[in-house]
Amino acid sequence: MTALRLPPAYHLISLERAVSTNDEARALAEAGAEDGTLVWAREQTGGRGRRGRVWASPPGNLYCSLVLRPEVSMAEAAELSFVACLGVGEAVGSLVPPMVPLRYKWPNDVLLDDRKISGILLEAKSGAKGRPDYVILGVGINVASHPEDTATPATDLAELGAPGLDVGEVLQAFARHFMTWAARWVEDGFGPARQAWLARAKGLGEPISIVNEASRLEGRFVDLDERGALVLELPGGDRRLIAAGDVLFAG
Ligand code: BTN
Repeated sequence: MTALRLPPAYHLISLERAVSTNDEARALAEAGAEDGTLVWAREQTGGRGRRGRVWASPPGNLYCSLVLRPEVSMAEAAELSFVACLGVGEAVGSLVPPMVPLRYKWPNDVLLDDRKISGILLEAKSGAKGRPDYVILGVGINVASHPEDTATPATDLAELGAPGLDVGEVLQAFARHFMTWAARWVEDGFGPARQAWLARAKGLGEPISIVNEASRLEGRFVDLDERGALVLELPGGDRRLIAAGDVLFAG
């Protein structure tokens, strides 16, 4: 593509290869990198997913991590994963044909045509007064290929009618849409992002299971609370706030 055009708030560090862009971004943050530092690698040799999973990272897909230094509490910083979902969702939605359905799967997967197109890994270091010293927002988007052997079926942009995309073009789209949502989050808080996420939430109002290492909980997905926890209605009618876990849908 022609030169990458990113909004000036980003400071791009472009690498051929990294073990994990989240690790690169964290090392930079520890060394004092400023808010908006964006690490992009063409491939990763040790890409990481949520809950210690491997994120397969061959060339052709997007792997990037953003250093953020938001002036909020640690709890509020966790909302950034939903803000990132919206940035990713709107970016990929703008790149595929309009009829491809876009959904968000709690906590932070983006689905196109009911399959996973992107994963988001938010890691934060706590600083003074309960605020983050920094937050690393890692984003992977399947552009040219996707893994076949994943628990949640995956897809890629090429398969969905957007072949031959330059990865830089996808990075540019994500950077722009994320910036719009991040600015809105800073201005107006989590409310607008929460509403936009809920409007496309997969399984809302339906029976789901929440699976953790040691437990499985059945119930109905009734809401997202004002901090991003999933509100699960148990069979007896009680409500439980779920902060972590994997969602399985009925059927
Ligand atoms: C998940 O769905 O489990 C989250 C996957 C996050 C993958 C991205 S790719 C860029 C960044 N670097 C990593 O090692 N992981 C994140």
